[in-house]
Amino acid sequence: MSTENDIKQDIELPDVQLNIVKPKQPIEVPIVENRIATKNASPNFIRHIVFDISGTELEGNVIAGQSIGIVPDILDKDGKYPKLRLYSVASPTNGEDGGGKYISTTVKRLLDEHWENQSIFMGVCSNYLATLKPGSKVKMTGPSGKRFLLPKNPENYNYLFFATGTGIAPFRGMIMDLMEKNVKSEIALIFGCPYRTDLLYSEYLQPLAESRANFHYLKSISREDPRKDGSKHYVQTQIEDESELLHPILKQDNTLIYVCGLKGMETGIYKSLAKYGFKDYLKISEKIAGKDPDDWDKEDLKRNVKPSNRMFLEVY
Ligand code: FAD
Ligand code: A2P
Repeated sequence: MSTENDIKQDIELPDVQLNIVKPKQPIEVPIVENRIATKNASPNFIRHIVFDISGTELEGNVIAGQSIGIVPDILDKDGKYPKLRLYSVASPTNGEDGGGKYISTTVKRLLDEHWENQSIFMGVCSNYLATLKPGSKVKMTGPSGKRFLLPKNPENYNYLFFATGTGIAPFRGMIMDLMEKNVKSEIALIFGCPYRTDLLYSEYLQPLAESRANFHYLKSISREDPRKDGSKHYVQTQIEDESELLHPILKQDNTLIYVCGLKGMETGIYKSLAKYGFKDYLKISEKIAGKDPDDWDKEDLKRNVKPSNRMFLEVY
């Protein structure tokens, strides 16, 4: 696979400490806030949860873009604790409190019909976290993640952040970091969700977009108003629909793309980027170099298209 599209100079990332708290010995930290993050009318249950990590090894050592591990305090039928689940940190690097003591995350309850027998399926950890009250303690590990971070010199780059659902968590923290550092380059958040009621953190993001000329907030609401051709608004469709804003940013050779959320969302972004000629963000194998990106199939996307070092992915 060609590497010619990797940005010439290395993108320097901050040094981070990983797994300070190991899964075998999680620490116990109290919850200080657990609130619904959607509008009340949303059919999705997504919560903003804040943890107090003051006085622990994690204090001051969790950076926007990293994840923490949560071990649900529920013994399974064999008397064992379930494995830990990872959650992206939604707080800025200085924490919710500005001093690295409080960190947060954005958790969506996994609720569905069971694929096999149509009974109600409830994810273990997301539903455990959703029910906890302030004061309850949770077992936490981490941090993890050493690449999905803002660069060391954030003012040298423009940013396109593509998020679906709880994929917004790391971008809330990163955008807060960029604002705190008064970064003047172009920053666009492209957020996808099913309904208007699911515009997470819009109470922060909307006024920010209105007050900061270099911050752009684009919403792709998939199950409400369709696009002109009847198709759904997805994050990748903004590359076409908002071309006047996004193409000049994408053309600059110091622009970085970050993608977080639904596993599989990245392939739509790859296709859209390639379709409009923004191939610097991708490594495209010779095998499909002559093929129209609209015709790339699942196999092409799996084997023959990868992100270049200008794109950062966290999909789950
Ligand atoms: P589980 O009990 O683990 O159930 C999920 C599993 O059950 C799935 O793996 C699937 O195999 C199966 N399953 C799913 N649906 C059904 C069904 N209908 N019928 C039968 N089986 C089914 N989540 C967030 O909410 N916020 C975040 O910020 C976040 N950040 C993450 C960051 C990273 C790096 C990663 C890897 C994951 C992140 N996640 C995040 C996802 C999170 O770790 C959990 O996977 C998620 O909360 C579900 O866990 P659970 O214990 O509730 O579900
Ligand atoms: P939809 O479910 O209408 O097809 P949430 O995690 O809150 O459910 O939000 C995920 C959002 O991402 C929804 O708007 C969903 O649309 C959308 N989505 C689903 N599949 C993709 C995909 N392949 N690429 C981009 N967005 C997607």
